[in-house]
Amino acid sequence: MADKHSRLDGPLCTAHRQAMADIRNIVVLTGAGISAESGIDTFRSAGGLWEQHRVEDVATPEAFARDPDLVLRFYDMRRANIQKAYPNAAHDALARLDQYWQGNLLIVTQNVDDLHERAGAERLIHMHGEHLSAWCLSCDGRTRWHAPLSDRPACPQCGEAALRPDIVWFGEMPYRMDEIDRAIGQCDLFVSIGTSGAVYPAAGYVRTARHYGARTLELNLDPSQGSIMFHECRMGRATDLVPAWVDEMLTHQAERL
Ligand code: APR
Repeated sequence: MADKHSRLDGPLCTAHRQAMADIRNIVVLTGAGISAESGIDTFRSAGGLWEQHRVEDVATPEAFARDPDLVLRFYDMRRANIQKAYPNAAHDALARLDQYWQGNLLIVTQNVDDLHERAGAERLIHMHGEHLSAWCLSCDGRTRWHAPLSDRPACPQCGEAALRPDIVWFGEMPYRMDEIDRAIGQCDLFVSIGTSGAVYPAAGYVRTARHYGARTLELNLDPSQGSIMFHECRMGRATDLVPAWVDEMLTHQAERL
């Protein structure tokens, strides 16, 4: 399992392989890095700036109240970009794991693109919302949405021009936290892919998973802020690392059957 780019601590290879062979329940956390090779900018690339604004200053309810045009234009641009992008080999590999893994699996993504589901993943939670969903602040309805919002279209459900991106902004509560917490508490393996570990609560999942006894693995281009917490870290591109890891897991499963 270890290669020259990986760090493996704790029990060495044989014991590690045994631990992997015993895995039944998996939680995978993904971040912007898994979509980078599909051409979608990560949040903290290029200094995390968009038109001279820090992302953290655009993605907040306060920013939306202060300058809704700016915020809606930012999300219109990103919504348009994801619709030109395609799933890459890492999304495809996770969809393959979802299709063939016989134990429990939950893919928790911080990403608001739809590339996991376009690749075919179904056991998936978008904890930070979705670009292709609009949320009406008047009637509280949610509508699948592909078009811009900055021209203030009417909500299809109530007719009010009160739609905002269905995105969890800084200071707001991520979605489906109970389900995520339950899955992490029950998993044997927690895998973090393409996330900088800068934003909570997702950044704290590795600690929770370890608390409950899970094995933990990081797959990322650079060490994340929480790298030290993982049993093993493999550094490289998601399109290389994720298919290789999925092959390993499916091989372990086949050997067990
Ligand atoms: N393969 C693997 N990892 C990559 C690749 C790649 N090709 N390219 C970049 N990365 C890694 C970077 O090294 C970095 O650690 O992906 C990570 C991306 O980090 P961020 O841009 O911080 O994205 P993310 O961790 O998903 O951000 C979390 O912050 O802004 C909020 O709500 C937003 O969901 C987002 C959250």
